[in-house]
Amino acid sequence: MSKIIRLKNRIKTFNNEIYIPGDKSLSIRWVLFSSLANGVSTAKNLLMSEDVLAAIEAIKCLGIKVIIKKNICKIYGNGINGFKYKRNLIIDAKNSGTLGRLILGLLVNSPYSIKLIGDESLSKRDFKRISDPLSKFGAKFKLKKNKFLPLRINGTSKPHAIKYFEKKGSAQCKSSVIFAGMRADGKTKIKAKKSRNHTELLCKHLKLPITINKKKNYDLIEINKVNKIKTLNYNIPSDISSSAFFIVLTALSKNSKLIIKNININPSRIGILKILRKMGVQIQFKNKKIYKGEIRTDMKIFGPKSLKAINCPSELNSSAIDEFLVIFLVAAKANGVSTFKNLEELNQKESPRLKWAEKILSKMGIKTIVTQNSIKIFGNPDLKINRKITIKKYLKDHRIFMTSVIAALSFGGEWIIHDKDSVKTSLPNFLKIINQLKNND
Ligand code: S3P
Repeated sequence: MSKIIRLKNRIKTFNNEIYIPGDKSLSIRWVLFSSLANGVSTAKNLLMSEDVLAAIEAIKCLGIKVIIKKNICKIYGNGINGFKYKRNLIIDAKNSGTLGRLILGLLVNSPYSIKLIGDESLSKRDFKRISDPLSKFGAKFKLKKNKFLPLRINGTSKPHAIKYFEKKGSAQCKSSVIFAGMRADGKTKIKAKKSRNHTELLCKHLKLPITINKKKNYDLIEINKVNKIKTLNYNIPSDISSSAFFIVLTALSKNSKLIIKNININPSRIGILKILRKMGVQIQFKNKKIYKGEIRTDMKIFGPKSLKAINCPSELNSSAIDEFLVIFLVAAKANGVSTFKNLEELNQKESPRLKWAEKILSKMGIKTIVTQNSIKIFGNPDLKINRKITIKKYLKDHRIFMTSVIAALSFGGEWIIHDKDSVKTSLPNFLKIINQLKNND
């Protein structure tokens, strides 16, 4: 089967309802928490993507039984110290930064050395940001060039509590330290720049000894040693980061309407909605509910007649961090010049995304000014592409693939986009949903 997709035609006005699979961050966290619980945990609507399957493989390597039947997944936890494995274990985090970083927190007290590997993209990403704080618990690390995978972790039999200042706004680093803190004697104290808080909410729901004190720009989190974790039955809501591509497709399609049901709208994830509303997109919520500390809702999006440029407030960066590539397409069609600043973390993702935004927008004929951490986008409300655009060698970054498809459907031109398998990371049925919208059924 060809790994290349060719797109030539803009999408026609649509009025549909779609279903988006489970949230990736919550799915991976559910797998990890369940692996530590005493007994059987069950999840419905667990995301069946490569990142989550890699998390399942990882806990299986650690001796945990997992059964998947239809859309139900059962994990048989052996308790917080219940991992059983042989020497020379290799865990493959594949493409998943979340898995690679979070699982290290669970391994600070591993009795044997474990090797962590990943795919080409993950092997280019920074793991020093996580080996540094985890070393303070007493674990020992060896990393390629002191920063990259493959790495080796040698746990300590007596992890001790630490103080940690998380300055990047990385939920992965914060969460990994929370997991390690659960294993350490004493109180681990974390001062963390704002980032997604699913780990903290799950700790609260499970009644683990955690306190969270929210300040304006950061959170103070304290976690004590945990002896026992209850099982966790969870019905995973739809992923806002996957929904983002369809929300933007609607925002770029005048008079189109789209309903997406049961999306997780945790406040630390809804930067995209705040940004698009400021740019003139109408988004309505219906049937809002609280479920195990998280908020979920049905959502309706209306394609507007025109879009306003934005000077994006940097406070929204962390809550929209995975959505910027596709948000930049909205800026490309907006009336005026949009500015996005303090986005150095964007170049730390599955590919250097700020650099890729510059490449894709310039191929589309949109002027940008890009620095190490910012982008100015000179919008063109009449943008129609008449050229041939090829997107390849992008480290199979799933979000570059999906952003390119949305650009092709919104602005036209002839697009040849390589590595369509990249969507398997987060949204394997992406092209199926696109076809549903194309056929307006
Ligand atoms: C994630 C955190 C974010 C995000 C990633 C998922 C998580 O990364 O980009 O896709 O589930 O914790 P950082 O925490 O490194 O910013």
